[in-house]
Amino acid sequence: MQAKNPEESRTIMSDLVLPGDTNMLNNLFGGELLARMDRAASIAAGRHSSSITVTASVNHVAFTQSVPLGSVLTVEAAVSRAFSTSMEVYIDVWIESRFSGERTKANEGIYTFVAIDEMGKPTKVPALEPITELEKERFAAALRRKQLSLVLAGKLDAKEATELRALFM
Ligand SMILES: CC(C)(COP(=O)(O)OP(=O)(O)OC[C@H]1O[C@@H](n2cnc3c(N)ncnc32)[C@H](O)[C@@H]1OP(=O)(O)O)[C@@H](O)C(=O)NCCC(=O)NCCS
Repeated sequence: MQAKNPEESRTIMSDLVLPGDTNMLNNLFGGELLARMDRAASIAAGRHSSSITVTASVNHVAFTQSVPLGSVLTVEAAVSRAFSTSMEVYIDVWIESRFSGERTKANEGIYTFVAIDEMGKPTKVPALEPITELEKERFAAALRRKQLSLVLAGKLDAKEATELRALFM
């Protein structure tokens, strides 16, 4: 399987924040943002793997900035590392000014997807080759995040999470 780079999976989705998407403060409802991130990330994982993919875990989401009603919200997702059958997808969320067109980073999320075959079994995905400095940073940190996610899910003994443990030694 030929390796791919993050650009090949990059998925950019823009949409308005309408009244049905908001909470009582007239800001985007958190669950709506998670769903938008999941959709873009799912397309990115599918582009990388050329397979059906499922969301295996949401590793991290930072709701650092609220998103007001009427905003143009852009969700940008790209595979940040591929393992054997799983992929980490990094999602950046931007708010765009209607007037200047300037984009402000609002939130981010990191999801794990698994490629599955027609029997619903995990199937191999191509390797990922990062190119830019940011892609290389995200690639390098992804193994620690995978280990943390597996430890939290009870699927990996913390003693075996060597990359993660190295952070604290
Ligand atoms: C995701 C799923 C396919 C994993 O199945 P599984 O039996 O745990 O499969 P495996 O143990 O072989 O793991 C497959 C890969 O997923 C990774 N994985 C599994 N759980 C993970 C987690 N919580 N965090 C990070 N990676 C995880 C494994 O490390 C493995 O990666 P690798 O092959 O790249 O090393 C299965 O749990 C599933 O189908 N879940 C439902 C998914 C779904 O419906 N999502 C939509 C939301 S409801």
